[in-house]
Amino acid sequence: MQQQKLGPHMAVAVEGIDLATATADTQAALVDALHDNLVLCVRGQKLPPVAFRDAMARFGVPVKRLQLASTPECDEVNIISSEDRDELGDGKKLVNGASWHTDDSFMREPCSLTMLYGVMVPSRGGDTQFTNMYAAYEALAPEMKARIDGLQVVHKYQSSRQTNRVSRRPESEMKAMPEATHPLVRTHPETGRKALYLNANRMEQIVGMERAESDALLDQLIAHAIEPRFQYRHVWRQGDVVIWDNRCTMHKANADYPEGERRLMHRVVVAGTAPV
Ligand code: SIN
Repeated sequence: MQQQKLGPHMAVAVEGIDLATATADTQAALVDALHDNLVLCVRGQKLPPVAFRDAMARFGVPVKRLQLASTPECDEVNIISSEDRDELGDGKKLVNGASWHTDDSFMREPCSLTMLYGVMVPSRGGDTQFTNMYAAYEALAPEMKARIDGLQVVHKYQSSRQTNRVSRRPESEMKAMPEATHPLVRTHPETGRKALYLNANRMEQIVGMERAESDALLDQLIAHAIEPRFQYRHVWRQGDVVIWDNRCTMHKANADYPEGERRLMHRVVVAGTAPV
């Protein structure tokens, strides 16, 4: 399988593969490439929603997410679009994922992987940025590692530290999303490597720490983790399927494309386990 490195320390692209019909050997090579590179881009896909869900089911168990609209053909395929609005809130335009985050951290068992399929991409802009949370952890000073190892953080769907508006959800759904407490440093269940586990949009407070001290430490760690040296910026091509590992990356969407141009992504997430 031909691989092209996209960033100096993360992200790889492969071409000439149809994800819907990949052989078991190719599938195993794709999983290895993802573990080694954290972000995997498979170019040139043509996947209607059910075929997209089925192809992603080869990486894990697709799970339904209610916070985003779904395609009519398939519940597990969510839509991220330049047309998104806060339907139950003020009805205004909403850019999902516009601040640095890892998917689902407000849940007790966040998804492990996210797959985003570029159905319609704008002529310019609309990139997705990623940051390598293994590298960010490894680059911390030994004193900082000693300070944060073992700390736990409360994450919420609607955190008071929120940096990007999230869509309003019905009360019944909010009740099914109680806050979750996760380690600040997690160990990847498959690679065994340690990574910072942060979400600028969902973290509320470090357990057992005064609010001011917690805010200062979380802000410091986020600023460190998103330094350009840890980042890769994905410039979309129509037909790209980009798969990332939420256990060792953060990402953010950019809504900087020309007014009136359409950006339409289909998204599948696969089940994960409680971070440890
Ligand atoms: C996301 O945050 O899951 C979506 C990212 C994007 O639209 O680029």
